[in-house]
Amino acid sequence: MFLGRKEVTGLDIGTSAVKLVELKHTRKGYELKNLGESLLPEEAIVNKVIKKRDAVVDAIAGLVDELKLRNKNVAISIAGHGVIIKKVSLPKMSEKELKEAIPWELEQYIPQGVEEVSYDFQILPGETPEGNMDVLIVAAKKDVTNEYVAVVSEAGLNPVVVDVDVFALENMFEFNYPEVNGTVALVNIGASITNVNIVGEGVSVFTRDITVGGNQLTELIQKEFGVDYEEAERMKRSIGGVAQISPDLDRILRDFTDLVCGEIKKTLDFFVKTLWRDGIERIMIGGGCSKIPYIRETLGGLVDSEVEVFNPFKNVFCGLDFDPEYIKDIAPKMGVAVGLALRKPGE
Ligand SMILES: Nc1ncnc2c1ncn2[C@@H]1O[C@H](COP(=O)(O)OP(=O)(O)OP(=O)(O)O)[C@@H](O)[C@H]1O
Ligand SMILES: [Mg+2]
Repeated sequence: MFLGRKEVTGLDIGTSAVKLVELKHTRKGYELKNLGESLLPEEAIVNKVIKKRDAVVDAIAGLVDELKLRNKNVAISIAGHGVIIKKVSLPKMSEKELKEAIPWELEQYIPQGVEEVSYDFQILPGETPEGNMDVLIVAAKKDVTNEYVAVVSEAGLNPVVVDVDVFALENMFEFNYPEVNGTVALVNIGASITNVNIVGEGVSVFTRDITVGGNQLTELIQKEFGVDYEEAERMKRSIGGVAQISPDLDRILRDFTDLVCGEIKKTLDFFVKTLWRDGIERIMIGGGCSKIPYIRETLGGLVDSEVEVFNPFKNVFCGLDFDPEYIKDIAPKMGVAVGLALRKPGE
């Protein structure tokens, strides 16, 4: 059915850019075959809903062309309001009974009706003190998913996996950091949302998409300097390479980092207070905004945990065809795309 291919191409349709990663599975492990990103215009995607369909189709098709992509079977992911992730505790029951119970469980979270979503569930290992079992339910709004699938198909690709950002991130982390134990918060700071997935002893114990991201900084820059979206984006992306920035820009940067890090801290505090009194040992950040000066130190100043930037290519062999500087520069944004590229068709 999949022409005998074992691999899928990872396609992360983000608010600011479409990102693509193709890996090859060899006897020695995973090797990078293809990598790139194509920026999207302003408001092509708003609140993770595709608003400018043609722009997104063009960006994907352009990237596929530019990279001469061969493997058209892709894994994509959705995030934000279109996804509902719930961990519920249910009395022990058979798989068949559980199948019947899930729609009832879901009903309370989806006022529009269960018909509006496609869902999947997984029984989590272990038993709760009450003898119940924990079940992870993931539901995706059909209209959101269908739109992503349609756009990807229109761009000439064949979507074979539809994943969720936070789980793709976790997949990337498990592959690259098998040696890391304890409780780790994966924090991917994008343009419109910040994906959080807290992994404890190898399983996800908490997920959330917080609605903060780099678009807020773009807006601040637009207002302060009277420039349009494209110019503000250019200014943002060059900050890291500039030796000295103006006091006005510096002030905006500080305001923005305080806001984002404050929201991340609130989410982590909520998790520790309600679920995990032992605390979080390590925070691994990524996403385009992890490149913004002050983010890492500001977050580090707010929490007791170590903060570092994750590298999605840590355990991926990147051959001589790729410029190491380019990989280093783009790596933090590629967490979701790498996690997707590590999926198998039909997963
Ligand atoms: N070098 C850089 N310096 C500062 N900011 C950057 C840099 N590169 C990207 N960004 C910002 O990071 C954000 C994009 O990050 P990312 O690619 O992770 O988000 P996305 O996947 O497009 O968005 P989302 O996940 O929210 O849909 C944008 O706001 C962009 O301006
Ligand atoms: Mg993203």
